[in-house]
Amino acid sequence: MHLKIAILPGDYIGPEVMAVAIPVLENVLKKSGHTLEYSVHDVGGAGIDNHGKALPDSTLEACRAADAILFGSVGGPKWEKLPPKEQPERASLLPLRKHFRLFANVRPGLLLKNLIETSPIRPDRIPNGVDMVCIRELTGGLYFGAKSTTTLADGDIEAIDTMVYRKSEIERITDVAIATARARRKHITLVDKANVLETSVLWRKVVGDRIKATAPDITLAFIYIDNAAMQMVLKPGQFDVVLTENMFGDILSDEMAVVCGSLGMMASASLGMDINRHGKGYGLYEPSGGTAPDIAGQDKANPCAQVLSVALMLRHSFGLEAEAKAIELAVEKTVADGIRTADIAGGAKAVGTKAMGQAILARL
Ligand code: IPM
Ligand code: MG
Repeated sequence: MHLKIAILPGDYIGPEVMAVAIPVLENVLKKSGHTLEYSVHDVGGAGIDNHGKALPDSTLEACRAADAILFGSVGGPKWEKLPPKEQPERASLLPLRKHFRLFANVRPGLLLKNLIETSPIRPDRIPNGVDMVCIRELTGGLYFGAKSTTTLADGDIEAIDTMVYRKSEIERITDVAIATARARRKHITLVDKANVLETSVLWRKVVGDRIKATAPDITLAFIYIDNAAMQMVLKPGQFDVVLTENMFGDILSDEMAVVCGSLGMMASASLGMDINRHGKGYGLYEPSGGTAPDIAGQDKANPCAQVLSVALMLRHSFGLEAEAKAIELAVEKTVADGIRTADIAGGAKAVGTKAMGQAILARL
């Protein structure tokens, strides 16, 4: 198979962790006899600095021509003074998600039993580790509804974000959750705020009806977002597939990541309905965390989330399950061998980004 990939490292730690992920990708493909063609493009702050725009036309063009996008992370203090609309996150990552209609964000939260000590959660709360997956709706809700800021007649200032959801949008993400649940423990927890929000009431109805009609083998639980945030640290084992709207998913998936050890360990796949040249889903793969400006340039960032994003890409956009597994096992073995970056070292001696990358490569 010939894989064509657009690589968009982005800002701050983005390029550092990408520099670890690329050799891992090259290595695993070489071993299995596949060929790789990739090109690296500016995005986010790097796009603004080098092309005057967070999502340069040439970057978008390269993404269109590729089978999948491997993304780093964007944004940071350097560009925070720009008008909000021009800032890296809003002007590159969100348009990319929208442009390629990547409505389903899949974030696996896996903490293996033998790595429990990397979690900040008390071990007796997670005796069997953690194994859940967050399915976050990614192209609707507050992120994409109408926005405005207006100075009112009395001089007060009003800002508005709108949360909009259609039945069809909820149905298609529910189908992703159903398919995900079927390959797992067959349980979906819908997280919402149906005691207050109109959109949440619609979510409950649509998800409930859809599961009743098409997936009677799946059990469904409803939980409010505030309670979910609490349950996530109290008893994470109760969750299998967590289904939720865009912003709740943004918040809850960070919490899930840290329960599973660290945000630095969590990969994500953003999938849509487009099919690539290999008949597989076109997708964007990125760490769930951000650019971590505070540790950028110091060889401190955990590259695992970026490396595990490569595994998700090989699995979802190319059907290369064995290669994906090989990468996941190499990361798992590295961490189990006690080789850890500071975020998961629990105060013990940590290694840097590059050394972590070498250790993963050696175990591949
Ligand atoms: C994420 C990030 C993004 C989001 C930001 C960078 C816009 O936090 O992928 O979770 O909120 O979706
Ligand atoms: Mg986030």
